[in-house]
Amino acid sequence: MMDRLPFIAGNWKMNKTVGEALDLVRKLKASISEVEGVEVAVAPSFTALYAVYKELEGTSIHLAAQNLFYEEQGAYTGEVSPMMLKEVGCHYVIIGHSERRQFFGETDETVNRRIKAALGQGLKVIFCMGETLKEREEGKTFSVVGRQIEGGLRRFGEIEIKGIVIAYEPVWAIGTGKTATPDQAEEVHRFIRERLERLYSREIAQGIRIQYGGSVTPENIKGLMSQENIDGALVGGASLKAETFSKIVRFKEM
Ligand code: PGA
Repeated sequence: MMDRLPFIAGNWKMNKTVGEALDLVRKLKASISEVEGVEVAVAPSFTALYAVYKELEGTSIHLAAQNLFYEEQGAYTGEVSPMMLKEVGCHYVIIGHSERRQFFGETDETVNRRIKAALGQGLKVIFCMGETLKEREEGKTFSVVGRQIEGGLRRFGEIEIKGIVIAYEPVWAIGTGKTATPDQAEEVHRFIRERLERLYSREIAQGIRIQYGGSVTPENIKGLMSQENIDGALVGGASLKAETFSKIVRFKEM
């Protein structure tokens, strides 16, 4: 069994002014800086990235952005390029979140282009996927997730895949308080890993981290992390408070 470093990331979504973001990150520095054996990242909104980066300097907490556009520069009003994110200290970028797919027209094809552009600038990617409630009820979970993996990773070889972390986030569990049970999540994580093995190799599939996302809390993190194929969490609501996020980061102590 390959040892995969657990990875907990906080997706702040469209929350927190610069002042609020700094307040949260200062508290996080105090509460989790000495935690070992877990990688941690936070994803503030674009406007707070640089200030948070400065505040995080010298710590092991990584900075992530929540999205980017795939072109390098030009007449794309309102968009942000990979290089701009790199410049303000981003290490990761979240791509293909279901909210981007649902409200902003993101497709497997545009996810694929965004991932390629991010990797091209040396950013690491948190690549999100997951089925809706309707798709689950219709028994389409595996076909939907399978299509999202293959579409998002199209034309990527072994070098690219190593810069990617996958986040399985069932849409029905995001922000709803309805977490997938550890077994439900593990079933899909195993499916994702098997698909990666088919696309790449067993060794590569074993090395890729797959986070779970969707109503993760201090109460349910331990059960999720005890599953063989769950390597971390992408946390929304519970990442907005230092107290809950640091408890999730400290899941090993529970
Ligand atoms: P949630 O969000 O933890 O609030 O459900 C997770 C996510 O969307 O990444």
